[in-house]
Amino acid sequence: MPLMEWIDSYSVKVDSIDEQHKKLFALLNNLNEQMVQGAGKKALKQTLADVYAYTQYHFEYEESLMEKAEFQGIGEHRNDHTELTSNTLALYTKLGKGDYKLAIETMQFLRNWWNNHILMSDMQFSQLMVDKGIQ
Ligand SMILES: [Fe+2]
Ligand SMILES: [Fe+2]
Repeated sequence: MPLMEWIDSYSVKVDSIDEQHKKLFALLNNLNEQMVQGAGKKALKQTLADVYAYTQYHFEYEESLMEKAEFQGIGEHRNDHTELTSNTLALYTKLGKGDYKLAIETMQFLRNWWNNHILMSDMQFSQLMVDKGIQ
């Protein structure tokens, strides 16, 4: 069973952001699958590095659209992104130490984080971007 499953309620009605969220789900599912199957440390670290790089790309992109839309909540939203970045790096360290139990727990954390962040935080700029014609 995939870790993250896309459903329409995740849509922020901005196509480019929806596409990036879908890609992130796919990358997280891939990482989770590798962990469940007991892939080697090297493979896991490489996959996590891919997740991390794409997460950074997505956050920068989303923040640039928030600036363009003059979204008032950008400061708080940026802090949320920074917090997740630290947590993703912490997972990288855990994997490096071969701490798979903690790594699996962190996957659950990542799943909850993305779920809550998209539904509660990203959703806050949705209507503003739609109104400003940002896609
Ligand atoms: Fe997002
Ligand atoms: Fe966000």
